[in-house]
Amino acid sequence: MKNRISKIMGLFVAVSLLVACGGKQEQRLTSPDGKTVITFSLKNGKPFYSIEKGGKAVLNTSQMGFALAGNDSLCADFQVVGTQTDSKNETWEQPWGEEILVHNQYNEAKIELQEKTGKQRLLNIVFRAFDDGIAFRYEFPEQENLKDFEIADELTEFTLANDDSIWSQHLFDRDYEVLYTKRLISEINDTVSTPVTIETSDGKYIEIHEAALIDFAKMNLTGCRSLHASLTPWATGVKVYAKTPFVSPWRIIVLADNLNELANSRMMLNLNEPSKIADTQWIEPMKYVGIWWGMHMNTMTWTEGPIHGATTKNMMRYIDFAAANNIGGVLVEGWNVGWDGYMVGDGTKFKFSTPYPDFDIEKISRYAAEKGVAIISHNETAAAISNYESQLDSAFAFAQKYGIHAIKTGYVNPLFDGKERHSSQYGVRHYRKVVETAANYQVAIDTHEPIMPTGWQRTYPNLIAQEGVRGQEWDAWSADGGNPPEHTTIIPFTRGLAGPMDFTPGTFNFSNPARPGTRVQTTIAKQLALYVVIYSPVQMASDIIENYVDRPEFEFIRVVPVDWQKTIVLDGKIGDFVITARKDKHSENWYLGAITDENARRVKVDFSFLEKGKNYKAVIYKDGANADWKTNPYSIVIEEQEITSDSVLELQLAPSGGTAIQIQSL
Ligand code: NOJ
Repeated sequence: MKNRISKIMGLFVAVSLLVACGGKQEQRLTSPDGKTVITFSLKNGKPFYSIEKGGKAVLNTSQMGFALAGNDSLCADFQVVGTQTDSKNETWEQPWGEEILVHNQYNEAKIELQEKTGKQRLLNIVFRAFDDGIAFRYEFPEQENLKDFEIADELTEFTLANDDSIWSQHLFDRDYEVLYTKRLISEINDTVSTPVTIETSDGKYIEIHEAALIDFAKMNLTGCRSLHASLTPWATGVKVYAKTPFVSPWRIIVLADNLNELANSRMMLNLNEPSKIADTQWIEPMKYVGIWWGMHMNTMTWTEGPIHGATTKNMMRYIDFAAANNIGGVLVEGWNVGWDGYMVGDGTKFKFSTPYPDFDIEKISRYAAEKGVAIISHNETAAAISNYESQLDSAFAFAQKYGIHAIKTGYVNPLFDGKERHSSQYGVRHYRKVVETAANYQVAIDTHEPIMPTGWQRTYPNLIAQEGVRGQEWDAWSADGGNPPEHTTIIPFTRGLAGPMDFTPGTFNFSNPARPGTRVQTTIAKQLALYVVIYSPVQMASDIIENYVDRPEFEFIRVVPVDWQKTIVLDGKIGDFVITARKDKHSENWYLGAITDENARRVKVDFSFLEKGKNYKAVIYKDGANADWKTNPYSIVIEEQEITSDSVLELQLAPSGGTAIQIQSL
């Protein structure tokens, strides 16, 4: 038996190997701050792990391993044949993000397993212990007796030590546009998609998700107290087709003492490879507008015809508006041939470099360039993947030719090419291919109906945002009337932990005459606060531009940035309220967003996060005295006052209301 304990950068990695009687072997790996411990054990040849933090059990002994096709298991009869350790302590810089510098520090142990009998196959489990949680992945080394293989099931379990509350989303892997609910872990009787967020009875948080899902199936969770991995299958029923050497994604368990630590965990990003794009200058975080809300109001169409939205005339108007209002880009949907079959879901007619005749790309792109406005073009595929893949290069070359550096992709149909699920290995390969190919043409991607994000943006920062959330568009047409007031107090700490969300806030007209019964269920001040509470480097001002005219509160959208030096969640409770402050990447200014659910709330903001000794002008956009999302949603008061790091303000939030504050350094 090999047991190598290595000394790296003068640090001993805290791994100890104990061999107990009865054939039970245990190894422990400790986080850099010494608080979190992973214990790996073999029991009668089966691999297990458990986690404790601060001496308290977080996960009880949980199984690991795989079932392979043909009733073959890769989860028993193992012995440890080696242990390798490593550690890292580095800081890297993000081209865009919620903060600039990311700290990546962990201790690692790679446990090398081999079956004792039979084919004597090898399987490594790599554990990393960070101060903000633990991660592990499986490695299938190159070997004689395991070459091409099929994974029938992943057996990884997450056996929570306590029956705490869990925020989760019932699996809907076509687009993840489902509301999150809170249950006891023991009440989970369905399949849920990660990330899930657990609130412990002692006020802490556990997030279970994955990182670097590159060539595998998405991990969902089933079970109750003992949640276990449930991989999305191919149409054949196989979960993963693999060939050694091969690795699984990282399974991550973030452990946070409070909401600020939860939101600021960068484990998922740290577990992805560094950027493969050397020059990222062309990747532009920005706010954008678009004719899009008109389509949701039925006043414009994606298809050709009398009220076609993507016309040269409309584009010129939107470009003018963007240029005059500090908005970086204009999104255009329905500009390309093929939409006429869209409503029946036929995506095979889409042509991604053939504009409709009333969309003069030469003229529009020239005008946009003169005005310094970016065009975000839309590639709806309707999940006709073969059609899209056959045009990927030409579509991105077309965009590049016209100076278009960002494309919003869409996959509205339930199955890829009518048979494969979005989050299957097939789907994962497709989404990855799009992002990689786009990078070759200097095109950034904002995916709608994506696979749940797992941090690819570290490696490909041109993956600038993804939807995968019940966005603001639901307020225009959903049968249940719109997103409920609590929704945006939940998603920053569930879906939002997986990466930027293209939620598209900023609707200023709350009802849709085309769909009576639907409503934006917020006050206007809450719409503004969402630009700070929800993170995305591309944020839409989602309404039609006419609705921003003569609205003084639009000023907040004009000035709010989308790229940040630093993010602090000052206070909150998932499902009730959130107060977030972010510092602009390019100035000493801060922005604050406070939002509440259906209940009015008085909250206190302590500004001690501001630089001591400095004076700031706070421009406060707050709910009017009688504001209420149901009865008086547009009531807003805009006022100014000077503040310092000693200031404490009380904010009165209306039912489903909010406050947005621009804090300018004087
Ligand atoms: C659904 C997307 O979320 C939406 O943004 C888009 O406009 C439509 N699909 C059409 O592609």
